[in-house]
Amino acid sequence: MTNPNNKTVIITGANSGIGRETALGLAKQNFNVILACRNLQKAEEARDYIIRNSKNDSITTEQLDLGNLNNIKTFAKKIQANYKRIDVLINNAGSVYNYLGFTEDGIEQTFGVNHIGHFYLTRLLLNKIIKSKPSRIINIASFAHYSSEGIQINDINYENTQYKGFKAYSESKLANVYFTRHLATLLDPKVTTVNAVHPGMVRSGFGMDGDLKGLYGQMNKLFRFFEISSTAGARTPIWLASSEKGGRVTGEYFARKRPGLISTKARSPEDAKVIWDYSENLITERGFSLPSIN
Ligand SMILES: NC(=O)c1ccc[n+]([C@@H]2O[C@H](COP(=O)([O-])OP(=O)(O)OC[C@H]3O[C@@H](n4cnc5c(N)ncnc54)[C@H](OP(=O)(O)O)[C@@H]3O)[C@@H](O)[C@H]2O)c1
Repeated sequence: MTNPNNKTVIITGANSGIGRETALGLAKQNFNVILACRNLQKAEEARDYIIRNSKNDSITTEQLDLGNLNNIKTFAKKIQANYKRIDVLINNAGSVYNYLGFTEDGIEQTFGVNHIGHFYLTRLLLNKIIKSKPSRIINIASFAHYSSEGIQINDINYENTQYKGFKAYSESKLANVYFTRHLATLLDPKVTTVNAVHPGMVRSGFGMDGDLKGLYGQMNKLFRFFEISSTAGARTPIWLASSEKGGRVTGEYFARKRPGLISTKARSPEDAKVIWDYSENLITERGFSLPSIN
């Protein structure tokens, strides 16, 4: 099939749930879709599913582990070399963990994967995204950011604090909102927009493989009866990625295709800047450089 749209979208964590359905929705609109996934076998299965259901065969898979800075760097190099444009980047991958664990680079994994991995990836691809103007960055956050009273950057690895999975998750989602809002202030909205999304409570694989135990695990199972499908959860990301209206706004947090309310905590531009600088330091002190934004 030809590609009259000729736009390219990268979607992280696109082998299941919201990411896979977002990829399918954009494939149906004739985007070239890059499925950026940790597990290539699952990515290939998702690719088959998307081609079968969209009749768009311009779907490629690339290996990406957001818990490994070196792997992110390799992925970004491949994208820079092999693809002409990045019209849309959707930072979707994310997990909640019941236990304290660390990324390859020694960062607590919830913050490390959900925020730092995407922060680094976006920074490495940003100049290409800017050159592909008008372009869009979409960060899948969550209303869970409301539960966070702030990101404990004085003890990000829980050396002196008791680890709680949902606390770490809500902090990582607050970081997604801060990242969105600060990045939006650095970019010309006529060139690149950046927005966050709460997809809704979605009946995906999220938190279902034993990652969430105790009260939150029970609640997660109970809520499944009331949750929306991954297809429904993908509606707002698809709309933001592809509609004319979705390209007009920047620095917002969307739910159900409308700007949603963010928490009082998330509204602070000063805190957003603190987390931006902190994230840069976490990456550079591990020997990884960050390109300047121009
Ligand atoms: N479900 C909800 O109710 C809900 C609500 C609000 C926000 N969200 C957000 O929506 C996003 C998508 O979640 P979902 O509900 O679709 O859950 P999901 O079905 O569990 O999908 C999560 C995806 O993230 C990927 N991932 C996890 N760790 C990764 C890593 N280190 N590197 C690369 N990919 C990684 C997973 O890949 P593997 O298959 O390799 O694990 C999977 O493809 C997440 O950011 C989540 O926080 C979900």
